[in-house]
Amino acid sequence: MKTRHFIALVSIMMAFFLTSCKYDYVVVPKAPPIDPEVPVKFAAEIVPIFTGTNNCIACHKTGGTAPDLTAANAYNSIVPALVNTTDAESSIIYQFAHPSSATHAWKKYSAADAELILVWIKQGAKNN
Ligand code: HEC
Repeated sequence: MKTRHFIALVSIMMAFFLTSCKYDYVVVPKAPPIDPEVPVKFAAEIVPIFTGTNNCIACHKTGGTAPDLTAANAYNSIVPALVNTTDAESSIIYQFAHPSSATHAWKKYSAADAELILVWIKQGAKNN
């Protein structure tokens, strides 16, 4: 009798124990994935990362701090000096202002900006 009570008690405790672990899944907003097969356009998609709300050109302008990221000069400033098409992740233009970079304290890319730049480099860093 005693053993059966003990087993019943342990079973009840186990049931409580097993049901007490409930995970709350937190949905972290992530940048929508970029289709690597669709060409990323330098003039239409990459340049606005520098000249738009990030305002990289506040400092990186003609006659300012290198690289010159103004629409007219950005491509020649970046390619080939700041890209590595065989190891895209190591490209300076991708790394330097990456959201997780510790090097460039002034301004960082958003996760979506960084992803787009990486795909553009992997596609050959074209002036398209
Ligand atoms: C407030 C001024 C300022 C802003 C805004 C700024 N930068 Fe910079 N950036 C600098 C300075 C100063 C340096 C050079 C010092 C250094 O190497 O750490 C630099 C260096 C760099 C370099 C390294 C160049 C090389 O040849 O090593 C890159 C790439 C760069 N910035 C990209 C960007 C991008 C992309 C943005 C916009 C997201 C941006 N910067 C916004 C001031 C700025």
